[in-house]
Parts: sequence; structure tokens; C-alpha cells
Amino acid sequence: MICGDLKGRKVLVTGASSGIGSAAAVLFSEQDCFIGVHYFRTPEGAKETFKQVKKNSDGILLYADVRDEKQVEEMVNQFAKEAGGIDILINNAGSLIDRQSFEKATLDYHENIYATNVRSIFLVTRAALPYLKKNKGNIVNIGSVAGHTGGASGSGMYSGAKAAVATETMSMAKEFAKYGIRVNSVLPGFIDTRFHERFSTARHRKEVAERTPLGRNGTAEDVAKAILFLASDAAGFITGEYIAVNGGSYMRA
Ligand code: NAI
Repeated sequence: MICGDLKGRKVLVTGASSGIGSAAAVLFSEQDCFIGVHYFRTPEGAKETFKQVKKNSDGILLYADVRDEKQVEEMVNQFAKEAGGIDILINNAGSLIDRQSFEKATLDYHENIYATNVRSIFLVTRAALPYLKKNKGNIVNIGSVAGHTGGASGSGMYSGAKAAVATETMSMAKEFAKYGIRVNSVLPGFIDTRFHERFSTARHRKEVAERTPLGRNGTAEDVAKAILFLASDAAGFITGEYIAVNGGSYMRA
């Protein structure tokens, strides 16, 4: 899949050490983009992504806990300095962290879910905005189908956080349109990544595939292609929108 207009763009991908972020980093490198491969706890995964990126183009490895204001600012400024600006920001880093019910969840868990999935996008976007303004860049936020449905058992607060991602995508799109910056989101359904290796059983993964209209679980590459479309000029008049990548498991008019 090649989008010629993306050649040479500077693309910062958060959470690129595995799953969707890694697939996006590699797909954008195939467009000859300069990639910021951001990671947090898994430098080995990031190095693997970086190796794939280097086969196609160039980039740098970047470390930050996306919940931390100072670390985020340093990471974003480092990328902009080494890349010579920022054209595309992919706010992918996020996590369910754990399955906890409203009845039993700790306050720490609640705060951590929102810090990991919502504060992170605020911090990274705010730090990247001066660079994106200069380049009339664009942003793709990764939400979740759970933000529409309320999610499965033990993912209620994660769902709330992902609903905030979807809503803030629209608010950012309105606010940044005056700078020529587009902001959209991709809402994955059930995607086979480390996420579900950790949070779902093999049996559950099979059951979800069987009840999904397209008959399988999604792949990280399925999601990366939707991100690529939204970031490309092919989506030049699209902002404040989302693409659901879920094999038809959740449809709405
Ligand atoms: P993953 O676990 O492979 O990737 C998550 C990435 O986020 C990792 O690279 C991790 O290091 C990073 N991350 C988490 N907390 C961080 C922190 N505090 N600071 C910096 N980085 C942090 O899982 P996957 O599936 O690739 O997830 C990517 C995004 O897609 C996440 O936002 C997730 O919520 C979302 N998503 C995934 C779905 C799935 O079925 N796999 C479904 C819906 C949404």
C-alpha cells in the first residue's frame, strides 16, 4: 500500500514497540516517511520495530511515559529537532491496564486509566502543536469500539476514557481547523495484539472471531491502513471523523 503524498513526512507514533503502533510505524516507513518510534516499557520491541523501519526509510527511537508532562515535552521536542519538524502525530499509546469492576476498582486504577489513555493524548498533542501548526500537519487518535459500547466486563473505565478520546478528537478538530490541522480517530474492534494476549483468553478470542461478520479478529495491519488513509491527502477534507475497524462487529447508522 503506497500513498505517494506521504513521502518525506515526519511521523511520530506513540506506543510503537508492539501491536498497532508498530504496524503503523512500519507502514509509514514504506511511504518513505521519517518515523519517531516511541516506546515506554519494552525497548526490545521498539528496537525490532526500528529495525523494520530502517529497511524502508529512517527514524529515531524515543522514550517517554506518556502520562508524564516533562518526559512527553522532552520526547516531542527531541523528535521535532532531529526530524526537522512534525507532520503527522499518531496518538496510539494506551492500555486497559487491568480488568476492574466499578464496584471493586481502586481510585489509583481509575486515575491511571484516564492518565494513560486521555491525559497522554492531551500532553503529546499540546507539545506537538507548535510543530504541527508550522506544517499544517494532522493527528490520528486511537480510540476503541469500547467507547461506543461500554466495553466488556471489567473495562468500564477504559471505555469511558476511550469515549473521551472520540469526543476530544472532534473538539480538537474544531479548534485546530484554523491552523489547517485535521484531527481524526480510528476505533479498533477486537484486534489480535499483545493487548488481548494479556487481557483475553484464547477461547474468548475464538468466540469473538466467530460472531464477527467478517469471520476473524482484526490485525494490527488492518488498523494501520485506516490510520494511513486518514493521515494522507486522500482524506484531505475529512476532520473530526472516525473510522471503525472491527470487521462489522459493531455498526451504527
Ligand atoms: P499494545 O499493548 O501492543 O500497545 C500499546 C502501546 O501503548 C505499547 O507500545 C505500550 O508501551 C504503550 N503504552 C501504554 N502505556 C504507556 C505509557 N504510560 N507511556 C508510554 N507508552 C505507553 O496493544 P495495541 O492493541 O497495539 O494497542 C494500541 C492502541 O489501540 C491502544 O491505545 C489500545 O487501547 C487501542 N485499542 C486496541 C484494541 C485491541 O483489540 N488490540 C481495541 C481497541 C483499542
